[in-house]
Amino acid sequence: MMYQPHKRIGLLSFILIMAWPILALCQEVPGNPQNGKVLFEKHCANCHGEKGTGDGPDTKFLLVQPANFHSLESRSKTDWELMNVITFGAIFSPMHGWSERLTEDERWDVLRYIRFLAPFNPIANLYPLPETHG
Ligand code: HEC
Repeated sequence: MMYQPHKRIGLLSFILIMAWPILALCQEVPGNPQNGKVLFEKHCANCHGEKGTGDGPDTKFLLVQPANFHSLESRSKTDWELMNVITFGAIFSPMHGWSERLTEDERWDVLRYIRFLAPFNPIANLYPLPETHG
């Protein structure tokens, strides 16, 4: 029989479509949470608390209270939104940007540790589940 490459296209597409979720799951997430833990405890825990609950020892000096990363509001924010605050800071608040003190990799590390403490939950606001308490 003659070789008919077009007959293979269906099979090939089928394999690619079936493999897609596996490929998607294998994608690497930037940031190393172990290194992030060290950085977080050094630079962030005084305000955000060791477990990220927003109740570190320095909060008594602050007018604007730090975010509790376990809140539904923080958990429903994307990595991108949180990275923006870590990089540029939040206006009118003691949360200044860290772009000059931490490298981009270090900011990803610290973000990955925050997400380890309080995982991203995109539908937290729609279907509130119990908040996590580290
Ligand atoms: C001086 C206290 C202080 C320190 C130190 C601090 N933060 Fe914050 N952070 C805040 C406050 C206050 C807010 C809330 C800002 C607002 O709501 O306007 C905040 C907000 C945030 C948010 C946004 C959360 C959200 O749900 O929008 C992230 C992310 C964050 N901080 C990460 C960090 C990281 C990472 C570090 C350490 C590298 C750090 N912070 C150090 C006080 C601090």
